[in-house]
Amino acid sequence: MQLHGLDLALTGWFQVAWSGDIDRNQVVALRYFGRDLVAYRSKDGVVRVHDRYCKHLGASLAHGGCVVGEGIQCPFHGWVWGPDGHNVSIPYQDRPNKAAKLGTWHVLERNEAIYVWFDAAGRDPFWDVPEMLTWAPQAADRDFHTAWPNGREHFGDLRVHPQMVTENAVDRHHFRFVHKTPISPVILDELVEGPEWRARVGFGRGWHKNPNDENGTLRTDTMNTLELLWSGIGVSVNVEHTIEGIRIISINTTPVEDGKTELFATYWIDRIENDLEDGTYQRRLNEAKLALPDDIEIWNHQVFVDPPGALAVEEGRGFRRIRKWVQQFYPGIDTAAAPGGENGYMPKLKAPG
Ligand code: FES
Ligand SMILES: [Fe+2]
Repeated sequence: MQLHGLDLALTGWFQVAWSGDIDRNQVVALRYFGRDLVAYRSKDGVVRVHDRYCKHLGASLAHGGCVVGEGIQCPFHGWVWGPDGHNVSIPYQDRPNKAAKLGTWHVLERNEAIYVWFDAAGRDPFWDVPEMLTWAPQAADRDFHTAWPNGREHFGDLRVHPQMVTENAVDRHHFRFVHKTPISPVILDELVEGPEWRARVGFGRGWHKNPNDENGTLRTDTMNTLELLWSGIGVSVNVEHTIEGIRIISINTTPVEDGKTELFATYWIDRIENDLEDGTYQRRLNEAKLALPDDIEIWNHQVFVDPPGALAVEEGRGFRRIRKWVQQFYPGIDTAAAPGGENGYMPKLKAPG
């Protein structure tokens, strides 16, 4: 899978839905990673994701399939597939077909979202998605409105490669032009460890002019700062501390197929007394949602330039560093791990747990 010459055969967690999209006993058709998938929430409340087509005669489990206990029943001849993908029942035979097994994907439900692990080399998950409301200290003791149902925006049918969104982490100068800030923010701190990229960015004249306290050390207050965290290149979260409070925005890009992606944005606003009644929540939510469409307009028409044609001196280090860091999310295609892959690039997926 390619997009702008960048590979979409990635590794990492990618959002495929919000929790609220899949109710208990609900069965949903999904298409991501070049594959037709089925998702359902079983009676125990757990969401499971499988390859969509029944291993018996190929009916779509997402079209008329239903949840039976912790598994899913095919609408065509009633075969039941368990949570690990194994056939657990053939209604007109006294025993299941133990060898038959549906492709089963690793699923993580957190942050009101459903993430699926995709690894083009067929490996199991080797990191975790952070808890977005509590990872940043300034947000940890706040109370937030749920993002469902109004704090979310879904952008479909895009040609935005996840890496283009990731590079935002070092791109401080686009703020002036795309988001009309009077001056570029400053990157105060950066911590890069394994699949996580964290940074603290200061906005406004206070940080621009004087990021240090009277002793010459970096100020530790968080007003007008934005903490950002990338968990792989598919999942990100920003925690923004403004005079009105804290808002948290998650921006996640997911490969759909060759040349096509989707973007999920989730918005949490911290709770202030009476803010639903007096309209403050809705106003703050609307403000939080303003910026992203302007970024998407750029990303969706951008071509990937590597190495960059030219960089200003002071931005060179950041771009070089992040492009080196993202290499770990291009595992290469392990054809040995993908004998059944419909397009030859898909891993043989293992059961969760
Ligand atoms: S095709 Fe699914 S049970 Fe026959
Ligand atoms: Fe932006």
